[in-house]
Amino acid sequence: MKMSKLAQLIDDDEQEQNQFATDVLAGLSSVEKHLSCKYFYDDTGSELFRDITQHEDYYLTRTEYAILDDASERLPGVLDEKEIDIVELGAGDGHKSQLIVDGFLRAGLAVNFYPIDISDKAMHMLGETIRDQPNLSVHGLIGDYFDGLRFVRERSARRQLVLFLGSNIGNFDRSQGQTFLRRLCSCLNTGDHVLIGFDLKKDITELIAAYTDSGNLTRDFNLNLLARINRELGGNFDLDGFQHYATYNPVLGAMESYLLATREQRVFISALQREFFFAAFEPIHTEYSFKFSPSDIEQLCDLSGFTPVENFADEKERFFSSLWRVA
Ligand SMILES: C[S@@+](CC[C@H](N)C(=O)[O-])C[C@H]1O[C@@H](n2cnc3c(N)ncnc32)[C@H](O)[C@@H]1O
Repeated sequence: MKMSKLAQLIDDDEQEQNQFATDVLAGLSSVEKHLSCKYFYDDTGSELFRDITQHEDYYLTRTEYAILDDASERLPGVLDEKEIDIVELGAGDGHKSQLIVDGFLRAGLAVNFYPIDISDKAMHMLGETIRDQPNLSVHGLIGDYFDGLRFVRERSARRQLVLFLGSNIGNFDRSQGQTFLRRLCSCLNTGDHVLIGFDLKKDITELIAAYTDSGNLTRDFNLNLLARINRELGGNFDLDGFQHYATYNPVLGAMESYLLATREQRVFISALQREFFFAAFEPIHTEYSFKFSPSDIEQLCDLSGFTPVENFADEKERFFSSLWRVA
């Protein structure tokens, strides 16, 4: 499917660039330096992320894919509609979307698929993955989650299934996650459903391996954030002066990713007209990947205005795909 013809840019590029600059300024001026994981996904980052999902150390994608393969047969029966809007937040390369969409088409439903992603590269990759089929219409939206949701709601009153896969929810801390899901719930109608991917708490060795893979893809993905600042904001980060570091924080129940300055250095970013000082081994926090217990998920569902319908899981309970209905 040629997504370039179907995808629509719904956010203003210039505004987005200004936001990137503002966020980098705020993050690197903080006492505890940080950068938002939202900015991982430029063209290079989206390609690197696809490569990560195919790496053997990254158990998340293959586990969730197998769960969705089974769930895709059952979802149409649970949702029981003739035509449905499938809205996907942060759709990525579309491999998981294809499974879900196919399940509904096989069950004889008409499907309007709205993948939403801030990365046009991801949308392009999705366009290569999603097959043209009768009864399927695809409207790719390049922009932020809630701008995309608003766009769909202004144009369709059909029953919706919102997909939020890949444990993207884990990038929010516990309270941000709850706020996000409440807001999502308030954008939907009673009887709409969401299917959310949750990575479960598990053996720490397995977690560390996934975020420090033997192919060094996660390292390159993390460092690309600095390369992006160099490219788009005229920074002069020396990538050899920074090291990828990922660790599990058992108190928070989260993987944490950092870039550590391996020596004292100064970095100038011309779009900000600012120089930033890094002490030796000073960290920049770049990502949280929160992990969940089944009871965390139950509580989150309850607190954000949904009713649990079913948890689809793998045999070893490493990952849940949780189906909730708007209460
Ligand atoms: C971790 S990847 C997951 C991709 C896919 N859902 C999967 O499960 O493999 C996150 C995706 O969400 C997109 N994304 C991140 N923040 C976003 C935002 N605020 N609005 C829209 N898309 C976003 C990224 O571009 C990326 O493609």
